[in-house]
Amino acid sequence: MQSKDFDPYVYLGTNVLKNKLGIKNSTVLALREEQLTSIRMLQLTQKELPRSITFKQLCLVHRHIFSDIYDWAGKIRTGSISKGRTQFCRPAYIQTEGVKICAAINQAKCFTELAPEEFIKRFAHSFNEMNVLHPFRDGNGRATRAFFNQIAAKANYQINYIKIGRDEWIDACIQGYWLTTNALEELFAKALVRLVPAPGLTLNQELNFGD
Ligand SMILES: Nc1ncnc2c1ncn2[C@@H]1O[C@H](COP(=O)(O)OP(=O)(O)O)[C@@H](O)[C@H]1O
Ligand SMILES: [Mg+2]
Repeated sequence: MQSKDFDPYVYLGTNVLKNKLGIKNSTVLALREEQLTSIRMLQLTQKELPRSITFKQLCLVHRHIFSDIYDWAGKIRTGSISKGRTQFCRPAYIQTEGVKICAAINQAKCFTELAPEEFIKRFAHSFNEMNVLHPFRDGNGRATRAFFNQIAAKANYQINYIKIGRDEWIDACIQGYWLTTNALEELFAKALVRLVPAPGLTLNQELNFGD
């Protein structure tokens, strides 16, 4: 994922990220990472929501998810990275651009006053900007989704990512980088869950559990 230049994040001669567990096999690391990060991500859903949305908060989310595994958890990457033909933001601009993206979300009151269609448009736009930023050496997908679920929760929504297939997700991210956020909007619309019932309904009615 890193460019062909020397990558200080991996063990020399491998593509395995240096880690606190001393694991040098990528399959073993992926498995252990999956176990540890899923516990941390679950813990995040129980935490109180941040008062305002800041770029620092995204770094704290990343730190929470990955600090068992990587020294650089929560820290902005120092090298350039790409995926396929996508070149993510140059390291020198990450901090300033990250602050700008979050300021725009705050200015829009975390999209709390918008109808669902408009919410999805603005949410997808900001999510895409953060994906293009890709602030960390790895774990951007997990940290950005967790962070944006904190934003969605302020508007009483969650994105249920189980409803989104891996390939359609990556395709939508690639389209977001090159073209348009339409595909991301469609996926978010499919996976959007309201946390409180619509006016006039109880939650059981809304969820079709009867009452
Ligand atoms: N070719 C691409 N162009 C744009 N975004 C991409 C591309 N491939 C993957 N992504 C985005 O990057 C995320 C993966 O980033 P990564 O830092 O590896 O996070 P994680 O380790 O949590 O999966 C994907 O979930 C997707 O959102
Ligand atoms: Mg990754």
